[in-house]
Amino acid sequence: MKKRYLVDIDLDELEKFYWDVIIIGTGIAGLYTALNIEDKYKVIVITKDKINENNSNLAQGGIAACMNEKDDINLHIEDTMKAGSYYNDKDAVRILVNEAAENVEKLIKFGTKFDRDELGNLMTTKEGGHSKRRVLHSKDQTGKEIIRALTEEVEKRDNIKIIEKAFAIDILTNKTTAFGVLIKDKIGESHVLHSKATVIASGGIGQVYGNTTNSSTITGDGIAMAYRAGAEITDMEFIQFHPTAFYSEADKKRLLISESLRGEGAILRNNKGETFMENYHQMGGLAPRDIVAKAILTEMKNENKENVYLDITSKGKEYIKNRFPYIYKECLSRGIDISKEYIPVCPVQHYIMGGIKTDYNGRTNIIGLYACGEAASLGIHGANRLASNSLLDGIVFGSRAAKDINENIDSRNIYIGSLVYKRNYKDNQINLKESRYKIQEAMNKYVFIFRKYKELNRAYKLVIEELERLYGADYESKEYYECINIATVAYLTIESALRRKKSIGSHIMIEDMGG
Ligand code: SIN
Repeated sequence: MKKRYLVDIDLDELEKFYWDVIIIGTGIAGLYTALNIEDKYKVIVITKDKINENNSNLAQGGIAACMNEKDDINLHIEDTMKAGSYYNDKDAVRILVNEAAENVEKLIKFGTKFDRDELGNLMTTKEGGHSKRRVLHSKDQTGKEIIRALTEEVEKRDNIKIIEKAFAIDILTNKTTAFGVLIKDKIGESHVLHSKATVIASGGIGQVYGNTTNSSTITGDGIAMAYRAGAEITDMEFIQFHPTAFYSEADKKRLLISESLRGEGAILRNNKGETFMENYHQMGGLAPRDIVAKAILTEMKNENKENVYLDITSKGKEYIKNRFPYIYKECLSRGIDISKEYIPVCPVQHYIMGGIKTDYNGRTNIIGLYACGEAASLGIHGANRLASNSLLDGIVFGSRAAKDINENIDSRNIYIGSLVYKRNYKDNQINLKESRYKIQEAMNKYVFIFRKYKELNRAYKLVIEELERLYGADYESKEYYECINIATVAYLTIESALRRKKSIGSHIMIEDMGG
């Protein structure tokens, strides 16, 4: 169920700009890919908001990499596979882990400052599913530090231009090949950016749920536009719910409470103050995320409560303020002093393992179209991502996409043909806010951690209806594009969930799929 483009197009009528490479998204995958493109090529990186308004910038815990002799690459591979319920592509996992150190070194060369001990050694923490301490961090704002360093590096490069507040509406294709992107700039003018290679690095899907740790900008745009362009989309049912987001009745945009708190000794407690994770998994509170989220939801249901608690009070104020300054401050502003009080937490949407299908070099099934980072899916994370493997995914496969582009771009031409597309408007009036809210409600209610066949079907019908109404509407606004992208991703997620009849990893069916 799709329309090819969201707007009427006549290529001859539009102002055109020519680039070698277009990158959509300024998170870690987008910026790192840009920095790995040879400087003889002209690169434009576009973002619909500000450069740092993305999920990478919000990443707290860190980046997993086997960087010291106490660790073993094979253990990182095994931890990744185990967390992913062995649904992972093992060769992709091997690449991820083997190429981790060289890319982390490059991040450091670009100016990223990870925490170090008094001897200058990189400090590490542990997170769920890891058998060793291998998560490098920069206090509790690792992503922000990486984005700062990469942004400063990009600003030094003459061949890279960043455009903020430019909305990528659709990928333009001829029969076989992607040849550019239709964008609306910050003053609402539409343009065509022509390119020899286009990279989708626009991140995940958080706002499809609304109840999410993700930035408010994350509306699944890249996955939806790739789908419209004919790219293969895969494994969309595998949604990761972070076990510990700050719970408050009012707040929908959830503050992430990093798993690294548990890595440093924080304990999960139910509403009676009892510990419970030992009843669910031998790794306790540091079990893989799907298991912890499931356990928390079970406790919440048993107690008929909206949250459980995370207790880090044993660590003392000085330690907490120094190691987790951001979380300390943010919780305090919400009325909780985490050095004295338990933190109310609940699971919310955090990440998607599925997305645009790529090979190991970021190539999609459309010539000239690449994807990397959370928008892409090549089986690294299996049915549930191991903690702190996502920033790593962004750099390892961003660098591989850049290498493939560097090696092949000279053999590609800029397309200069024509393209005319007319939509069929029914001109019905839709309240976009209401439509978006309806979809989010259905996703949170029926496509959450525990899934039932009947409920998935209910959500499916609702989303299809909404999508059809949206396709028929005559709007040209960011709100409209985002709403239709949210509906498209919701549709793809439910459709995929309905096809997978058995539970695995983050896809948990608690009622028979009915044959
Ligand atoms: C966290 O700090 O708990 C989140 C890191 C991740 O998503 O891997």
